[in-house]
Amino acid sequence: MHISKADFVESNTDYKKCPPPFIPEYAFIGRSNVGKSSLINMLCLRNGLAKTSSTPGKTQLINHFKINDAWFLVDLPGYGYAKTARHQREKWNRMIQDYILNRENLMNVFLLIDSRIPPQQKDNDFIIWLGENGIAFSIVFTKTDQLTKLKLETSIRTYQQTLQREWKQLPPFFITSSDKKTGRDELLNYIEECNKNFVQ
Ligand code: GTP
Ligand code: MG
Repeated sequence: MHISKADFVESNTDYKKCPPPFIPEYAFIGRSNVGKSSLINMLCLRNGLAKTSSTPGKTQLINHFKINDAWFLVDLPGYGYAKTARHQREKWNRMIQDYILNRENLMNVFLLIDSRIPPQQKDNDFIIWLGENGIAFSIVFTKTDQLTKLKLETSIRTYQQTLQREWKQLPPFFITSSDKKTGRDELLNYIEECNKNFVQ
């Protein structure tokens, strides 16, 4: 899919105030600093569209971007950053969960996992929560430019084995690097396919 247009629409704290849900929507979620905002910029080929930072906790709101005037990408705050105050973390968690459970045009949640580190309890908990609530999701491995091919393969296999303990069927997964633009075509093709299933 060719991206001809990518516009920031607005930021919200409440899913009820988000833009009208008349076009398909895709949200990026994952632990703070995993690379959600960077991935959105990479998909749109627009550095600075979504705000990134080497300090975790940069994205604090539900941010809507309209792509090709036809679908939304949504950048969400990260979960599980220990240095964020507890009340703030709880507020973000509630905001994210309310958004995911209630946003009617949400086609798929892309759950981002840092390919450099072993499976984390917080990610597993979040995956279980998505499954229990019947939310369609895919797994996106990030920062794969920082691993050798062999380490990357081992890391992904370990992750799949962890998931297989809980799930009969594995969700779709994508291997990405925002630095190297790896996985861009695969993600955009997937979104293009999902867009065809949108029923208003
Ligand atoms: P929060 O908004 O704080 O939850 O973080 P985020 O998940 O949006 O992460 P963000 O995109 O801001 O990136 C965090 C850091 O990781 C930044 O320093 C990025 O430059 C770096 N980063 C993101 N993607 C990649 C990647 O593919 N490769 C490498 N090497 N670094 C990356
Ligand atoms: Mg961010």
